Amino acid sequence: MTRTAGVVVSGTRPTGALHLGHLNGALKNWVELQKSARCFFFVADWHALTTDYAEPSGIADSTTAMILDWLAVGLDPEVSVLFRQSQVPEHAELHLLFSMIIPVPWLERVPSYKEQQEQLEGRDLSTYGFLGYPLLQSADILLYKAAHVPVGEDQLPHVELTREVARRFNRFYGPIFPEPAGLVVQAARVPGTDGRKMSKSYGNAVALSDDSDTVYSKLVRMVTDPRRQRRTDPGDPKDCPAFQFHEIYCTEQERAEVTQGCRSASIGCVDCKKVMIRRVQDELGPIQERRRALELRPGVVGEVLAEGRRKAAAVAEETMGEVRRAMGLL
Ligand code: TRP
Ligand code: SF4
Repeated sequence: MTRTAGVVVSGTRPTGALHLGHLNGALKNWVELQKSARCFFFVADWHALTTDYAEPSGIADSTTAMILDWLAVGLDPEVSVLFRQSQVPEHAELHLLFSMIIPVPWLERVPSYKEQQEQLEGRDLSTYGFLGYPLLQSADILLYKAAHVPVGEDQLPHVELTREVARRFNRFYGPIFPEPAGLVVQAARVPGTDGRKMSKSYGNAVALSDDSDTVYSKLVRMVTDPRRQRRTDPGDPKDCPAFQFHEIYCTEQERAEVTQGCRSASIGCVDCKKVMIRRVQDELGPIQERRRALELRPGVVGEVLAEGRRKAAAVAEETMGEVRRAMGLL
């Protein structure tokens, strides 16, 4: 395989079963990237602990579910390195060494720090680990000398911090780390059935595991352009959350047809939605088939993680050798 695009690293917190937001926002892009780049994709279980430290019981099952979903959507453990962060302790070692050189104000001014503290009220996030979590992310990325980090827009400040950490480290100890670039996925931000961002915690998600009937009943009720109160009221797809599914899943011709039908009130919302619902069902069918086949192979997740850990650790060890030498630890 020719790999032209350099190393790619990305991680996801173990959130359990994945939904269409993950599929269209990240996973399809990861599956494409693995064709051209050396990819390291990992379950960020330590990151989960930075916010969920009081309730860690779901992390193990969520990790297993997520790996099964990754495999089912086409991430290939023969091609990409799929692993679990906590199984490669070099992430923690590099994080510790970075903590020696990073000024605390750099972390305090990361936008997600105050935002999350406000949003997740009810949890005590005045912890050392929560403050340092973007630095752990820097270690995740630099350990593999990533060129590109595919992330959502909200994560770009963390990639920027990573570049600053790399520069500071290189200035003290010599050029070890390349500066990575964020790769903001063009792909779709998928709305949930209520029009807000799709999220399990909002209860508006279509899971990758939803069967065809469930997909239908969720999406057929999805919010539309509020002007279409009655069947005879015209609307505009521009103002319709459901139409964002047509944008992702339908052909240009189908979009033109429903757009015309919507603006002239010649079709109803149910007929309109059926066009995209069928596509979603068609996409999920094979994913679910592969998932079921994987579930019949007990131990498959353990095997994939063991292999991923081995490959990740080999690279991580090499980088840490350079880092330890540069910092006077050998
Ligand atoms: N912080 C990311 C998130 O919450 C997850 C993450 C952890 C990550 N380490 C990473 C993403 C390294 C990209 C690269 O979504
Ligand atoms: Fe949305 Fe289609 Fe209804 Fe128009 S007809 S409001 S695009 S669901």
